[in-house]
Amino acid sequence: MREEKTFYELVGGADTFRSLVQAFYPKVQAHPNLGPIFPEDITPVMEKQYMFLTQFFGGPPLYSETVGPPMMRARHLPFPITQQRAHDWLGCMSAAMEEIGLSDPLREAMLERLKIPAFHFVNTPE
Ligand code: HEM
Repeated sequence: MREEKTFYELVGGADTFRSLVQAFYPKVQAHPNLGPIFPEDITPVMEKQYMFLTQFFGGPPLYSETVGPPMMRARHLPFPITQQRAHDWLGCMSAAMEEIGLSDPLREAMLERLKIPAFHFVNTPE
């Protein structure tokens, strides 16, 4: 029987997630609504995001092994996340996917999957 590929493998594994994170954070930092809530030194966030997205899309559980239980909504509570910021975050992600050449239907499927946590993290009214 043929084994099903994980989403992680389908999009290209570690190289793709590295490139995605590298394309994503400059957009976040440059975004007028997102940039101000992120730290100036973005490198540790990039590394954690790389590890988290890897495991979120079915790759090795790097985040859990290195940082601990994801508890991502709780980890976002110190930051005021509005509906608009969730939209903006997803917009930067979509642009980063386009930049690295990730095309539909994979791009759309990945975004659909990310919408769930993004809107779940909203913790502040507009
Ligand atoms: C909804 C809009 C979002 C906003 C505005 C946002 C914002 C932030 C901020 C401000 C940080 C902390 C940076 C610091 O350490 O000072 C952070 C960390 C992080 N975010 Fe988000 N985020 C959003 C959505 C997401 C989504 C959808 C995911 C993954 C599916 C995600 C994954 C992470 C990870 C893995 C970290 C690092 C956590 C750690 O410290 O271990 N974020 N985010």
